Amino acid sequence: MKRFKRTTVTAALPYANGPLHIGHIAGAYLPADTYVRYLRLRGDDVIFICGSDEHGVAITLGAKKEGVSPRQFVDKYHGLMRQAFEDFGISFDIYSRTSSEVHYETAQEFFRKIYDQQIFLEETSDQYYDEQEQIFLADRYIIGTCPNCGHTNAYGDQCEKCGTSLSPRQLINPRSTVSGKTPVLKPTRHWYFPLDKYEAWLREWVIDGHKDDWKVNVYGQCKSWIDQGLQPRSITRDLDWGVPVPLADAKGKVLYVWFDAPIGYISATKELKPEGWEKYWKDPETRLIHFIGKDNIVFHCIIFPAILKAAGDYILPDNVPANEFLNLEGDKISTSRNHAVWLHEYLTDFSGRRDELRYVLTSISPETKDSDFTWKDYQQKVNSELVAILGNFVNRVMVLTWKYFDGKVPSEHELPGTTDRRKKILEQYNKAHDELNVSVKEMISALNGFRFREAQFQLMNLARIGNKFLADTEPWKLAKEDMEAVGCILNYALTIVGNIAIACDPFLPDAAASLRKQLNSSSFDVNWKQFWIKEQLINAVPQHHQLGQPELMYKNVEDEEIDRQVQKLRKTKMENEKPASAVKPLKPEITIDDFGKLDIRVGKVLAAEKMEKSNKLLKLTVDTGVDQRTVLSGIAQHYSPEEMVGKQVTLIANLAPRKMMGIESQGMILMAEDVDGKLRLIQPIEVVNPGSLVN
Ligand code: MF3
Ligand code: ZN
Repeated sequence: MKRFKRTTVTAALPYANGPLHIGHIAGAYLPADTYVRYLRLRGDDVIFICGSDEHGVAITLGAKKEGVSPRQFVDKYHGLMRQAFEDFGISFDIYSRTSSEVHYETAQEFFRKIYDQQIFLEETSDQYYDEQEQIFLADRYIIGTCPNCGHTNAYGDQCEKCGTSLSPRQLINPRSTVSGKTPVLKPTRHWYFPLDKYEAWLREWVIDGHKDDWKVNVYGQCKSWIDQGLQPRSITRDLDWGVPVPLADAKGKVLYVWFDAPIGYISATKELKPEGWEKYWKDPETRLIHFIGKDNIVFHCIIFPAILKAAGDYILPDNVPANEFLNLEGDKISTSRNHAVWLHEYLTDFSGRRDELRYVLTSISPETKDSDFTWKDYQQKVNSELVAILGNFVNRVMVLTWKYFDGKVPSEHELPGTTDRRKKILEQYNKAHDELNVSVKEMISALNGFRFREAQFQLMNLARIGNKFLADTEPWKLAKEDMEAVGCILNYALTIVGNIAIACDPFLPDAAASLRKQLNSSSFDVNWKQFWIKEQLINAVPQHHQLGQPELMYKNVEDEEIDRQVQKLRKTKMENEKPASAVKPLKPEITIDDFGKLDIRVGKVLAAEKMEKSNKLLKLTVDTGVDQRTVLSGIAQHYSPEEMVGKQVTLIANLAPRKMMGIESQGMILMAEDVDGKLRLIQPIEVVNPGSLVN
């Protein structure tokens, strides 16, 4: 391994557009936290950087949906996420945000640095523009018919039905998701980063340079990306939310979110260490490690490194241990369908028990392929591993030491193998000792290699071996005849407990705290750091030391608790499926002549007003092409009078007039009634002349 003095660890900046769920945690934050805690225990110089990603379409779309400003929107979710991380014990040195002033400055400085070297390309091209809203539409804001499969709601960047990646101009019948209108093409000027010019360098740095030390899934994605050929990437957008492009003639332009967000790692470091930040980003003896999910790989392994390279004198990531995805009960985690275990809800429902979730998520960590979280498995892992192996071992040792030695660590003198029984104990001790040292070595080597599942498995092995040692030596049976042997056994068992207290700290910080308390470790002076340096069992607890009281570390997860969680997920699933089942059954068949009797035509609303004493009805004046007439329509809760004026509507024009609340309605406006009861106007997709017949 390359020599290094310090480590900069980053975890992907989550979009401030919703609460955190277990998929986020398992993907990036828990492995990063485990790793950082390990480095800190070893005494390394390490900083752990994260913050909220507050720009981009994910934010502006979300804000629009909630009917608030982007600023209010990110404030809300930044606060929520920050709190949930803290409550869960993710030990960032800083949790910053990309709407901060120092980030604006840093991101703009990056842009300028590259701009001044004339690296960017500047190009004007036609992009879709929403004339009603007066905005250029980002790819995600445009939907239309997929040219590949005919799906009518494909996005401008991808059809989610057939998976084809698209560009907005390939869509048939494009519409703006903001206004519903057909967008027009309009020229706009943008800056592009010439990624293609970095291809040779990327081949050398990634494909040749990291073949052996990057994870297979990460390396594979990078290689296939580079092999497909790299193109210039636009790094600016027409949006009114984001970091403004720092050029005089760039009004209304902001930096593309994937340009500014990774720079957020650097801004956050500046905020954390206004004086000493540079060595964490510029000293070649600093290691940079990015923890991310697999959807972020190309940005962290290809695009951001190329940008760092262009900016000059920055270090590049040493490793990017990206995880695959976590599923939930056999189904994709989905924010929009509310199929998720939300971190803040978990922390309320399982208050004081965050180690359980850490344990389970690490043990199913999607390190090499997608994995599945189920509540049944959660219960099983907590009960048969945390309770039955770890908790049980510690508790037995503590209780026995109190029982036979009043909670004082027995002497550690050598046990002369004079009797058969003593010889046997000696053998068992030697065997346990060797096995424990192997596990410690493997645990640390797994931590160094970002294999946290394996590392945690080896941690549990320490307790497994401990349990076996007790079961084999049976100190409770010796108590009457050979107290010296009992003392030796318990002394060693306490050594194992002490080493577990040290080793579990990166994985199970609450367990570590409980163990320190039970061992009363604050009142002795043993250098626990040695464990991590020597990579072997150390004399963790001095003889004759007075222990604290035993405490129960874990208790069984009951069936009812698990059922409640499973029910919660089922309920949202059913609610989500309701729309399909709420679709009304077909009406009885009619003839073409029945249909022909209807005069359905397109009209235009000339005037609209609320009906007095009715909260349902609007009184509309409609131009039907043949006349102007009054039509009452029960849409007042769905459209305002202002919204209706000028709109094209479809109406049945030959329906017998009907009096409602004293006024005669001369026709009926056609509406689509959504499954949730919401009414939407039926309009021709393009404007037609009033009076056009529908047939
Ligand atoms: N917000 C992005 C996501 O959730 C991740 C950004 S990582 C950063 O996918 F490097 F850009 F910060
Ligand atoms: Zn398609």
